[in-house]
Amino acid sequence: MSRRPIIAGNWKMHNNRAQSEELVCGIRDAIKSIDKDLLPEVVVAPVFTSLDVVSKNICNCGCGRIQLAAQNCYYEAKGAFTGEVSIDMLKDFDTKFVIIGHSERRQIFSETDEMINKKAIAIIEAGLTPIICCGETLEQRELGVTDSHIASQIVKALENVKPSDVANVVIAYEPIWAIGTGKTCDSAEANRVIKVIRTTIAQIAGKDNAEKVRILYGGSVKPETIKEQMAQSDIDGALVGGASLKVDSFVEIIKGAMK
Ligand code: PGA
Repeated sequence: MSRRPIIAGNWKMHNNRAQSEELVCGIRDAIKSIDKDLLPEVVVAPVFTSLDVVSKNICNCGCGRIQLAAQNCYYEAKGAFTGEVSIDMLKDFDTKFVIIGHSERRQIFSETDEMINKKAIAIIEAGLTPIICCGETLEQRELGVTDSHIASQIVKALENVKPSDVANVVIAYEPIWAIGTGKTCDSAEANRVIKVIRTTIAQIAGKDNAEKVRILYGGSVKPETIKEQMAQSDIDGALVGGASLKVDSFVEIIKGAMK
């Protein structure tokens, strides 16, 4: 089964409009002459206030090499939800992916598995693709409960999602202790946990659908780590934070994931 790799840049709460424009144009120009079939699917997730300018610059590229993601959404269509953004509103910018369940959203903004599940269902119904994040804390790893914790996050996030829709979701395995710390999870270990995720998905949605799901690794991905990560059997790409904020390092990561 060959799954097209994804390299996604999660810009988090960085970059105003001008900085976002500079970054996306830099990435776009650096990859515009690369054969599209050799490239991974390249995704960038700017802050809401930069979706507009990033979207315009991606479209101007005219070559479909970069796709747009949002970092969050709300699952209701509209109404009295101060501060939230609906999926339909994200569609104004031709947003294709929405990152949900990032550990920062879970830990800082108290997002629950139930909310993440509602978001996943709403995103799929709207025709977009959720990038569902999961990951264990250092404490959970040391207690030896990594696999059961991850499996539980996946089961809850995908509750009531049709098996055929499960095949199209993207999962990001991001051990929390590896995020923004410079401490990358050992590639073989990341691959092992990702296999646990795939087995869990197979139990929910069948083996064929599970084989289609793209599962990314995230947590201090750098140009120096990507080749080894991509060489693993079950790692289908990366969700990149810090290293996605500089054109050079992000482009090197993209190139490291090329065929
Ligand atoms: P990092 O962040 O690459 O800076 O560790 C990854 C993420 O939070 O998605």
